Amino acid sequence: MKVDGKNIRPIWLDSDLNVVKIIDQRLLPHEFVIADLKTVDDVIMSIKEMYVRGAPLIGVTAAFGVYLATLNSPVKTIEDDYLIEECQRLKASRPTAVNLAWAVDKVLSETLKADNGSGKIDTARNEAEKIAEDEAEKCRKIGEHGLDLIDEISRKKQGATVNLLTHCNAGWLACIEYGTATAPIYAAFDKGLDIHVWVDETRPLNQGARLTAWELGKHGVKHTVITDNAGGHLMQHHMVDMVIVGTDRTTFTGDVANKIGTYLKALAARDNNIPFYVALPSSTFDWKLKDGIKEIPIEERDPDEIRHVQGLDRGSIRSVLISPEESPAANFAFDVTPARLVTGFITERGICKASEKDILSLFPEKKKP
Ligand code: MRU
Repeated sequence: MKVDGKNIRPIWLDSDLNVVKIIDQRLLPHEFVIADLKTVDDVIMSIKEMYVRGAPLIGVTAAFGVYLATLNSPVKTIEDDYLIEECQRLKASRPTAVNLAWAVDKVLSETLKADNGSGKIDTARNEAEKIAEDEAEKCRKIGEHGLDLIDEISRKKQGATVNLLTHCNAGWLACIEYGTATAPIYAAFDKGLDIHVWVDETRPLNQGARLTAWELGKHGVKHTVITDNAGGHLMQHHMVDMVIVGTDRTTFTGDVANKIGTYLKALAARDNNIPFYVALPSSTFDWKLKDGIKEIPIEERDPDEIRHVQGLDRGSIRSVLISPEESPAANFAFDVTPARLVTGFITERGICKASEKDILSLFPEKKKP
């Protein structure tokens, strides 16, 4: 996507092929800093500390991590055991987004097929780059399919502003290009539809207020940042036409793990008869899990992320304490919205209902024999 007229992605391989470049998302929107990843440890740190975040981007970063593992092998032949162990370490860096394990396993399985060191390096690089391109293309298609939904609302409203609500950042920063939840929004904007987006700030790390607001602003999309608790009020007053969110892991039965607070938005949407859509590439489906509430691992992060807030103060980014120093805090980073509250999924193959039957008819190859 374009930032100030320049095409940019949140991750790319440097021209010397030895360094992976990323946008350090911890500092946006106040500072635009590019960071270098040279080793598997760098990649793990960047995922854990959320320099990079968002399910598809976590997957792509880890895929490049496998490539960096091949480059940094202690022996030229690149032993299988070494690679498998490095991949285990990569997969343990964050627990909820299934794209992480999916991408690492995909690169690993192809790389292990190569029969010498330089073949392994080339294969890992090609596979990581392919995953990045494929994820970008899937998001483009999500935009095409989701556009139909916004178009329909716009027609029903006879061209009056369509108000969308989103939570966290499921934009291009989280996904290589276009985003998942934001892809239909950008497609609708580019088509000239009158749209406006309510952006949940998304405490504690404020991915909505910092990242989604920045992205939408750079693209010229009308938007308003709201507190995480404002959505219900807006829905009661007919100020939201549709909710679109992303997801970090969705079971094949349709249960959706996404940023903490998503479930409450889905409840409020159901109570107010507002469509609640989840946009995702197929890499975010977990084809093994049936019961999202019981089975999806929910990340718990450092409580200090709750107790502090970061922002710009007299030109510098600073973090300040909000709660009493001695008060404990609990930082559950995701929640699970049950399938019954989801109106539908917007995927690269089209739109389907949140049921096992409908999901598997869109992805028939995933049906168990
Ligand atoms: O903790 P984060 O910032 O990695 O969480 C990101 C989200 O919850 C996104 O909504 C999700 O990854 C969808 S990605 C397009």
